[in-house]
Amino acid sequence: MKIVVVGGTGLIGSKLVSKLVMMNHTVIAAAPSLGINTLTGFGLNHALQGTDVVVDVSNSPGIDGNEALDFFQTSTVNLVTAGLYAGVKHHVALSIVGVERMPDSGYIRAKLAQEDFIRESGINYSILRSAQFFELAGRIAEAATTGDEMNISPAAFQPVAGPVLMPMYEFIRYYLNATEDPRQLFADEHARYYGAALDDASLTPGEHARFGKIKYEDWFHNQLINQQ
Ligand SMILES: NC(=O)c1ccc[n+]([C@@H]2O[C@H](COP(=O)([O-])OP(=O)(O)OC[C@H]3O[C@@H](n4cnc5c(N)ncnc54)[C@H](OP(=O)(O)O)[C@@H]3O)[C@@H](O)[C@H]2O)c1
Repeated sequence: MKIVVVGGTGLIGSKLVSKLVMMNHTVIAAAPSLGINTLTGFGLNHALQGTDVVVDVSNSPGIDGNEALDFFQTSTVNLVTAGLYAGVKHHVALSIVGVERMPDSGYIRAKLAQEDFIRESGINYSILRSAQFFELAGRIAEAATTGDEMNISPAAFQPVAGPVLMPMYEFIRYYLNATEDPRQLFADEHARYYGAALDDASLTPGEHARFGKIKYEDWFHNQLINQQ
């Protein structure tokens, strides 16, 4: 099967490309740094020729609401339009758990706009609403940092592969301890996540969610071993 992974150089895309190659698919990683750009359309029609499935795991370069909205709208319109023209059989997009529950986040509204366009486009599609990946801890910490302090919400949170529900604050605390990061961490129920106020229902998985089995501590330990 020919599969185009849009965002194939990113955190999730690069892992996906490796796995699909191992499964003997013909895989094209698409990204601006590889000469394929869904915002401008550059290289897109050529890449999609003869493609069975497009998996869109691209991301906006900025998380600011307007920039993200512009990215996900323009990019998705270009990608789906080119996909329909090229006869792509299935379009898969990675979205985020709770997108309908955090309307005060511009980034999350942009993801919802991406979903809406795909649903209305007429292409065959799957939208996967994933929880946060373990690897996101560093980015969450960075986004919440002012000076050498950070405020993180204690709202319930269940990273994607894990069987454990935990306060987001505890997730970040583990990350800071494990990386010997000296920044000071405060649990703050008013702290925002991508601009969204959180409660215990915002980021938690729905009734029919699929859960992983790997605890964050075990995953982190394995990462450290693999780096040695
Ligand atoms: N990270 C998480 O925990 C998580 C959880 C749930 C859902 N998601 C969703 O998963 C998606 C991927 O997230 P990520 O963290 O893996 O992203 P990421 O690491 O920031 O990677 C972004 C990717 O998008 C590509 N890209 C940027 N602009 C592009 C353009 N104009 N045309 C084509 N490709 C472009 C980048 O290419 P270059 O390398 O060339 O810049 C890169 O490959 C996002 O939509 C996010 O909302 C993420």
